[in-house]
Amino acid sequence: MELIELSEAWVERAVALWEHTGLTRPWNDPHADARKALAGPESTILALVQGERLAATAMAGDDGHRGWLYYVAVDPDLQDQGCGWRIVEAAAEWLRARGTVKVQLMVRAGNDSVTQFYEKLGFERLNVAVLGKRLVP
Ligand SMILES: CC(C)(COP(=O)(O)OP(=O)(O)OC[C@H]1O[C@@H](n2cnc3c(N)ncnc32)[C@H](O)[C@@H]1OP(=O)(O)O)[C@@H](O)C(=O)NCCC(=O)NCCS
Repeated sequence: MELIELSEAWVERAVALWEHTGLTRPWNDPHADARKALAGPESTILALVQGERLAATAMAGDDGHRGWLYYVAVDPDLQDQGCGWRIVEAAAEWLRARGTVKVQLMVRAGNDSVTQFYEKLGFERLNVAVLGKRLVP
């Protein structure tokens, strides 16, 4: 399994993986999310690939203060083999190499069991409420 930074050519396969693993929502455009993450130097999408097959992804970005992870996903046929662990560690390392001191992520309500996966990787629950407001209708 090879670790790569995705290029545009992989976007369709990444979106298919995100849809398959339940990460997309109607109000977000995953294609636009992917292209934006690949466009600038402060963000990327790392992936584990086997030839032309996409096994895992993690979008990483530095917002100028913290690092954030999004779209952490492993092909269901390849889960429970350490791919999740490897892609999250790689994304954290990508951020650390750019001087980012803390990495954070959000877990949707209803996906609570995934917090155990992150806790095994050293992430801690933070005592904060995350608030959001749409800037574009
Ligand atoms: C969460 C996810 C990325 C984990 O990937 P994975 O390749 O299966 O994880 P790993 O094989 O590296 O597992 C590492 C450890 O976490 C545990 N783990 C993985 N997913 C878990 C889950 N949903 N709940 C509890 N523990 C989990 C594994 O059992 C393993 O523990 P062990 O070493 O004690 O056996 C994968 O299940 C996935 O793609 N889920 C759907 C998308 C998703 O919910 N992403 C997270 C969005 S915040």
